[in-house]
Parts: sequence; C-alpha cells; structure tokens
Amino acid sequence: MKKMWEGRFSEVSAKLLEEFNASIGFDKNLFEQDIKGSKAHAKMLGAQGIIGKDESEKIIDGLDRVLDEIRRGEFEFKIEDEDIHMSVEKRLSEIIGKELGGRLHTARSRNDQVALDFRLYVLEKNQEILKKVKELVATLTSLSSKHLDTLMPGFTHLQHAQPVSLAYHLMAYAFMFKRDFERFASSYERNNLSPLGSAALAGTPHKIDREMVARELGFAGVTQNAMDSVSDRDFALEILFNISVLMMHASRLCEELIIWSSSEFGFVSISDAYSTGSSIMPQKKNPDVAELIRGKTGRVNGNLIALLTTMKGLPLAYNKDMQEDKEGVFDSVATALASVEILNEMIKTAKFNKENMLSATKRGHLSATDLADYLVREKNVAFREAHFITGKAVAKAESLGVDLSELDGEQLRSVDENLDENAVKFLDLNASKEARTSKGGTANVSVKAQIDDIKAWLEVLK
Ligand code: ARG
Repeated sequence: MKKMWEGRFSEVSAKLLEEFNASIGFDKNLFEQDIKGSKAHAKMLGAQGIIGKDESEKIIDGLDRVLDEIRRGEFEFKIEDEDIHMSVEKRLSEIIGKELGGRLHTARSRNDQVALDFRLYVLEKNQEILKKVKELVATLTSLSSKHLDTLMPGFTHLQHAQPVSLAYHLMAYAFMFKRDFERFASSYERNNLSPLGSAALAGTPHKIDREMVARELGFAGVTQNAMDSVSDRDFALEILFNISVLMMHASRLCEELIIWSSSEFGFVSISDAYSTGSSIMPQKKNPDVAELIRGKTGRVNGNLIALLTTMKGLPLAYNKDMQEDKEGVFDSVATALASVEILNEMIKTAKFNKENMLSATKRGHLSATDLADYLVREKNVAFREAHFITGKAVAKAESLGVDLSELDGEQLRSVDENLDENAVKFLDLNASKEARTSKGGTANVSVKAQIDDIKAWLEVLK
C-alpha cells in the first residue's frame, strides 16, 4: 500500500506498525469537522489565488461527496490510511483525481488540521453540554419553588444538624450546576480560536488568510503563535476538567438520592421508569441510575488524569503522544451528556416524601442551636455558656426519651433559670428554619431570593 510519505522511504510499513500507529478507529468520529475544515481551507486557498478558483470549487464539491459517502455509511475506513485526515484526502483524490486532490494540503499540516478538527469537536460538544446543564438547573429551580415549606433535616457529618427546607437543599445543587455552566461557557470563549494555518509548527510562506478560515468556521478569531497552536491541548483538558467537576456534583446529588431512597431514610422515591429490579429478590427497587452516575465519575476523572499525564513531558511542538488525546475526551463527553440528561429526568419524576422528611426533623434535637442563640440574644448569656446550658437541655430531652423541640416551659426551666416560657417558641422546628433570614440562609425569604436569582439568570440565557 502506497503512503503519502513514500518519497523518502524505501521499505513498506510493517503491518504491526500500521495497526499500532492508526487512529482511524476513533478519529473517524471527527469526519464532519475534518471535512468542514478542509472546505474552509480550500475556499481560502482559492480566494487567495494559491490554487485556482475552479480548482477550489472542484475540491469543495469532491469533499461534499466524501461527506455524503461517510454519512450514508458507504465509506470504507482502512487501517492503512492511518487517520481521518488521510482517509478523507485519499478518497477525495480518488473522486477528483490525484493531481487536484493533492492541492488541498497546500499550506497545511496534519498538525494544525487535527488541532482544528478536535477543537471544533470540543467546542460543539461544549455547547451541547451547556444546554443540558441549563435544563438541569431549571429543573432543580422549579422543583425548589414547590418545596419551600417542605421541612427536612439539614446534615453535617451525615448527622442531623439544623432544619432546612427541601427547596434550600435542592437550590444548593442549582448553584453548583450554575457554576458548572459558567465554567464550560468560559472555556468556550477562551478556546474559540482557529489554529488552522499554523501548518507543521512554524507557519507557512504561502499568502494564506487565517481570519477568513476562522470566519468561515464560526471562530471568534485566530490563535497567535503557531508553535503553541499545534502543541496546545488545553481546550481538551478544560472540557475534561469541567466534566469532572460537573460529574462530581452530579455524583454527590446521586449519592444523596441513593441514601434518601433507602428504607432508613425514605425521603424520596425514584420513579419506576428510572429504577431497576433484582433478578432474585422480588421486592427490590434499586437506584441503579444514580449509582451508575456516581460510578462513571471515576472514569471521567481517569480521562482527565490520563491526558494531563500524556501532555506533561512533551517538548514542543507536535508529538505523536498527542494522538492519545481523543478517546478519553469522546468518552467523557458521551458520559457527561448521557448522565446529565438522565439525572434531569430522574429528578423530574422522583417523588419526595414530605411526611418522612418532617418526622425526621423531630429526631436529633435540630433546634438546639436556636435555643443557644435565644440565650445569647435575649438573656445576654455568652455563647459558650449558652452552648453548655443547651447541651444540658438536650441531655434532659434524651433522658425523657423525647426531642428537644418537645420540651415544655417547665422542663426547660428545670435545666436553667434563663430558660423561661419564651424559650419554647424558639424550639419550634419551622420557626428555626424561618429565623435564618440571612442572605443565603434557609428561611423562605432567603430561598425565594436564591430562586429569583437563578430564574433571572436562566431568563438572560434564553
Ligand atoms: N492522527 C494524528 C493525531 O491524532 C494526526 C496528526 C498526525 N500528525 C503527524 N505529524 N503525524 O494526532
């Protein structure tokens, strides 16, 4: 089989080399981007008089035919053609002739070509992820507005801590996913530059117009240093990192859904449509989707570390190591898109059990901090002393086998003289939640402000 580089070679490639070296098995995913980039390049070559106008048009028609063949599944990808760039060029030459097909690669290298194709792919996928993340934020926000009065325990160390609303807890995730959105959006802005025209590493003596190619392809501009442009994979690392953080957030939410759907908690029931059964235990309903999202977070982290490690020792400019950049990104992108989509549906269809959440708030003395705060505010007791007195009140409740919120005035008084009748209302769990009106707090006024903030943000995005 003839190679593009056969001029310099006297021996043919070993079969083992061909198989080891080829990336066609996975970079065929980039055929749309590769052909789009080649068409823009051919158009520019024609416009600049580097090749004839008619030649440019014929090349573009030929590229459209190759695109059609691939889209229809009629294109045969061969290991000997190594990668998507050479496969497309070879087929183009078969269609329009070797002489004409051979002009397309003027003022270009596979090094800037692959940098372009991969960047276009990452930017497109970035936008798809943004859309899905935005939908998830919208789901969490609208669900929150229905659960302002759903009282539940807030946790630290997975121990009951203070009463909060379910709305508040869900909004914590809305803000996490909003930050994810912003991270993807800022990566998009930073990387939306065309590397094409960098050629092998040092630019080209041909009178190319890089801005024209960038415009044709929808980039905001061109990269500044050719050597950097062909060596840079920051755009790929950024999407991998952004996906890792996104998946870490999704995984934490899933972990909570898993815990909350256990019989011990019973806070949520995941819909049958997004649960699975057991092959042996007829009664089982398992949160497999949530577990899988939690599990897949491991592999996206692996993809990030793999590429960081691949890149860390590479001298400038292109090295073949960089061919290892693609599979992890394809995998992470597919994982993130599928995970966020199904997470969104699972949350939309889940049923939250308000009664179980409410009765859980009556365990664990959730209003203890409120009692201490009462002593500080109304009785001028130092916080440390207030903490001690409240601790004794908790011990009292424990000895009576009740929750702190169930103690009456007399029982409180027996603990400390500063605990009078007025203290009782501060033990009320809903009052505890409603007292936390500080910005970012769990009182309904504060949570409504958080919801409004996100709604206004979503509105601007439309
Ligand atoms: N298949 C290669 C890759 O994915 C394309 C670039 C090859 N360039 C080169 N000089 N061998 O990285």
